[in-house]
Amino acid sequence: MSGELSPIDTAKFVAAKRAVEFVQDGMRVGLGTGSTAAWMVRCLGELIREDGMKITGVPTSSRTAELARQVGINVVSLDEARWLDLTIDGTDEYDSDLCLIKGGGGALLQEKIVATASDQMIVIADPTKQVDTLGAFPLPVEVIPFGWQTTKALIEEMLVSMDVLGQQSSLRMNGDAPFVTDEGNHIVDLHLQRIGNPRQLSMVLNQIPGVVENGLFIDICDVVVIGHGDGRVEVTDINEGTHEEDRIEFVDTTNLFADI
Ligand code: 5RP
Repeated sequence: MSGELSPIDTAKFVAAKRAVEFVQDGMRVGLGTGSTAAWMVRCLGELIREDGMKITGVPTSSRTAELARQVGINVVSLDEARWLDLTIDGTDEYDSDLCLIKGGGGALLQEKIVATASDQMIVIADPTKQVDTLGAFPLPVEVIPFGWQTTKALIEEMLVSMDVLGQQSSLRMNGDAPFVTDEGNHIVDLHLQRIGNPRQLSMVLNQIPGVVENGLFIDICDVVVIGHGDGRVEVTDINEGTHEEDRIEFVDTTNLFADI
């Protein structure tokens, strides 16, 4: 693997690199899913290899578990860890209150459980994920396979009375077959364009029988680390009311792939 990164990968990498500075020796860390989170897992692997840091990781998907083991992280289940110091994950969208849409990678259920079981959730992203109003990215909803078409119809019926622009939904596919999550469920993507009241929508969605969880993360995330293609990073903490800018210096990333 080359050490040369595209601007978008540089943005993801520097966000991940800055976010792992929050990780301290001995911490139990929730490991998110997706391409940005994969950079974070590799950065943690580097801390373990080069600084001798001891970290216990709880992955949010089978994909992340595999990568975490490859880079040398001690992987345990959430039931073994019980509670986590920190979770670092990517996002599909975030707004100024750090409300998120997650689940583009289909891992929203484990991601939400793990993030909720953490003292702090840090989101890492490139600038394209920032929005004024959530909803341009289709909202993923995890549904059980039994009666999924009825559940999908109930969701669409409910959307008529919600503050959203679109009311269409689609079953996520994996080739010719429905996509299956790590928990054996399906994903219905809601094409809402604009979500006027994410809190209300999240509560109402989760009351529909057949819905397991939705991809709105509200009052879960505290800190966002935004990486830029030129190596700059911005760290915003909404609890502390702080905003810092920094720059990550790196020559190349070849060593991040040493064990992969
Ligand atoms: C997976 C997720 C991801 O965090 C989200 O889709 C962002 O992924 P990426 O970093 O690849 O853009 O929620 O379920």
